[in-house]
Amino acid sequence: MAREPTIRSDDSDDGAREPQPDQRATRSRESDDELRPSQLDDVIGQAAVVERIRILLQAAEKRGDPLGHLLMDGPPGLGKTTLAMVIPRELGTDFQITAGPSLSAPKDLLPYLTNASEGSVLFIDEIHRMPPAVEEFIYPAMEDFRVDITLGEGLNARTINMKLQPFTVIGATTRSGMLTAPLRDRFVSREHLSFYSLDELATIVCRSAARLNTEIADDAAIEIAQRSRGTPRKANNWLRWARDFADARSDGVISLPVAQAALKMKGVDSIGLEETDRRYMETIMTVFSGGPAGVQAIAHTMNLPADTLEDEVEPFLLREGLLQRTPRGRTLTLKAYAHLGCTSPETPDGDHAQSED
Ligand SMILES: Nc1ncnc2c1ncn2[C@@H]1O[C@H](COP(=O)(O)OP(=O)(O)O)[C@@H](O)[C@H]1O
Ligand SMILES: [Mg+2]
Repeated sequence: MAREPTIRSDDSDDGAREPQPDQRATRSRESDDELRPSQLDDVIGQAAVVERIRILLQAAEKRGDPLGHLLMDGPPGLGKTTLAMVIPRELGTDFQITAGPSLSAPKDLLPYLTNASEGSVLFIDEIHRMPPAVEEFIYPAMEDFRVDITLGEGLNARTINMKLQPFTVIGATTRSGMLTAPLRDRFVSREHLSFYSLDELATIVCRSAARLNTEIADDAAIEIAQRSRGTPRKANNWLRWARDFADARSDGVISLPVAQAALKMKGVDSIGLEETDRRYMETIMTVFSGGPAGVQAIAHTMNLPADTLEDEVEPFLLREGLLQRTPRGRTLTLKAYAHLGCTSPETPDGDHAQSED
């Protein structure tokens, strides 16, 4: 392939589509792009995942085959999009990007499939939000590199088979549990991204500060890392905020006191919990007597979508041992009470329990 790899995304698409979730995704992608590692060597952490991806890349290159379809799952901000963008760059192939919520019918997906050049990567973010009709449409594309298009209706309906170039789907999801088994099975490899260690996050903060031409003290980088809930996106966002704070209130250098004051102003506590996290825990504690409580009930009480709680709040609380998921709902742990500086109820009751997974 002599020509330059192209990148195509639905950002440039001026057709007014379902606005909300995509605009949110687009905005966060834009601010992320500035600090995104551009090659596999620059990716920090996730060592085992990166090593397996390296093997897949080398094998595909040696054999001249397209990379097998790859599914990545894990909480937001851990590097799914980053890895998906690094792969075509390493392969020197074209890259297209779209997201489950913007594919409301097979016709929305079709141009991406027909545009896919040989060996190129089609990245589908939030793939668990693809409607069933689109999912069925993508099966033969992933399996046999063909699509079946039905023309006409009723007695006049006929199906045309269209051949596609062999290409690779990379899917990303925050909820692998919501994927249907047939879709999941069409991915040759599946990778789970987990939260980052303190050292890894501190390294990311220092590298990002260098890219932003900002001076940061080592202890300030560790402080930001400590309060970033194991998540590179948070670490980068707090770094940007600390930089603004340092520019506005001090000499532009992010020292430990500057980082601490900046994070305090944002209501970030010693382990990185924010206002919403604390409100979530306080809701379970006060309204539901510590739990068990169903996520829908908690979401209603907090006036937030249950999705937001499940994607953005609960994973970290679970990992920190502040929250437990039981078949009857969510329960706060003793550690959560200690963290909030409260005493736990002596006899937690289960009145608010609701049956869930
Ligand atoms: N392994 C990593 N090394 C360095 N920076 C990372 C890494 N993973 C994520 N980041 C940073 O975090 C930001 C968010 O990552 P992203 O890939 O968009 O997360 P996701 O798609 O899982 O929500 C990126 O812009 C990037 O700067
Ligand atoms: Mg992403």
